[in-house]
Amino acid sequence: MASPALISETGPWKDLKDHVEDIKKTHLRELMADMGRCQSMTVEFDDMLLDYSRQRATLDTIDKLFKLAEAACLKQKISRMFNGDKINSTENRSVLHVALRAPRDAVICSDRKNVVPDVWGVLDQIKEFSERVRNGSWVGATGKQLKNVIAIGIGGSFLGPLFVHTAFQTDAEAGEYAKGRQLRFLANVDPIDVAKNITGLDPETTLVVVVSKTFTTAETMLNARTLREWIIAALGPSAVAKHMVAVSTNLPLVEKFGIDPNNAFAFWDWVGGRYSVCSAVGVLPLSLQYGFEVVEKFLKGAQSIDQHFYTAPFEKNIPAILPYSQALEKFAPHIQQVSMESNGKGVSIDGLPLPFETGEIDFGEPGTNGQHSFYQLIHQGRAIPCDFIGVIRSQQPVYLKGEMVNNHDELMSNFFAQPDALAYGKTPEQLQKESVPEHLVPHKTFTGNRPSLSLLLPSLNAYNIGQLLAIYEHRVAVQGFIWGINSFDQWGVELGKSLATQVRKQLHASRFKGESVEGFNFSTTTMLTKYLKATSD
Ligand code: F6P
Repeated sequence: MASPALISETGPWKDLKDHVEDIKKTHLRELMADMGRCQSMTVEFDDMLLDYSRQRATLDTIDKLFKLAEAACLKQKISRMFNGDKINSTENRSVLHVALRAPRDAVICSDRKNVVPDVWGVLDQIKEFSERVRNGSWVGATGKQLKNVIAIGIGGSFLGPLFVHTAFQTDAEAGEYAKGRQLRFLANVDPIDVAKNITGLDPETTLVVVVSKTFTTAETMLNARTLREWIIAALGPSAVAKHMVAVSTNLPLVEKFGIDPNNAFAFWDWVGGRYSVCSAVGVLPLSLQYGFEVVEKFLKGAQSIDQHFYTAPFEKNIPAILPYSQALEKFAPHIQQVSMESNGKGVSIDGLPLPFETGEIDFGEPGTNGQHSFYQLIHQGRAIPCDFIGVIRSQQPVYLKGEMVNNHDELMSNFFAQPDALAYGKTPEQLQKESVPEHLVPHKTFTGNRPSLSLLLPSLNAYNIGQLLAIYEHRVAVQGFIWGINSFDQWGVELGKSLATQVRKQLHASRFKGESVEGFNFSTTTMLTKYLKATSD
């Protein structure tokens, strides 16, 4: 079936739109009472459980959604992605992050070339290099072991690796391998971030990894130059060869920067920045910190979901993010980029203006911290669909004598309670029965009917963390396929970048040539003039 020009013009879309009116008449309290429905809305895979029964949907809704998927040619689009077709049409690129975690003997082609041997070539290179750094056969310029790593990168070259690092840190196995080592991330061009990163570190024992797909990103390149100066000032220019390595698709620019091409780890234009955590972007810094074997388990976890996503029927497919695990504190910021940079689009893949809005606004915070911050709004303000992510076995259980439950049970009590609080709410009748004073009843009423889904993971080791990542990557792709947009380009970030270039030139011209501020509107001219005046001495 050919893909429709706009999904909103298809029968299944219109049918679903009409169906919204029926759903509005139903409360989640009634939907949750239907056991058959609830049972059909749970999926188990590899010991993880997804429960989407608290979505405002009936089985009829699900049926209509499958029809929509059919109208959007979802199956064919997924196959095209896995087959290396150039589905990122505005950049004429394949979208093959699944190849980054494919088994060594898999065959996945882009431009009729099997990319898997290249992937494993770099993985082998990382394994060898990280082992040498970790066992001390690769040392710094003064012969000292490199125990500290600063990874410089921003956006997709930062958020994914930071999420995985944060989740590994408290895992007993991964943590054991990281003993005596430090991994830090320098992303922001703000000099405060530079200061925070180098504080307490000695260049003699530090390895800097510059991570940039393009090797042109202004923030990353400036931070890379700053840390190059930091190394040279302490150890001399020849130390760069021992203390700086790079991850990029642009190896000529890596060399031009002064990093030995032998110390560069490649990836490819068919890996989108925000989908690059399974490439050298994530694998190199994480292998330096935790060892390659741990990272390989993470890749295997992601691969298990790729396989499941590709083969399981839609009804058994597991696709505000509220992880009830502190180890996942950087998961929401990562998914924020994966989702919002992918699906915040205004036109269809063919360039037609969309008559509907795409993209979710994603944010999140680990439970229970989030409960003491923005949950008020979720419960009584706007209805915000929530993903609750819980873990059965804690990475770090604590047992205190005499407590009613242990720390993890306490955390999980909240994980189990919050979705029901959102779904069922609390009625004025219930409050009256509790003798709540009449004037407080409206304030204490919860309308409920607020949708969420719950994902329960068996544990949070490297393998499960890989699975979690891949679930969300594929969910974002599916949303984009249904909306009929290109989830793999990001033209929306360009305008701000080019305006910053104009400002940068003005700052330079005013500071060093005394030129007055020109070509900006009244507001920007006023602020720039004030800023220049205050910083001119
Ligand atoms: O924010 C725009 C963006 O291009 C992201 O897509 C990307 O992850 C990030 O900048 C960093 O880019 P690079 O890896 O090329 O430095």
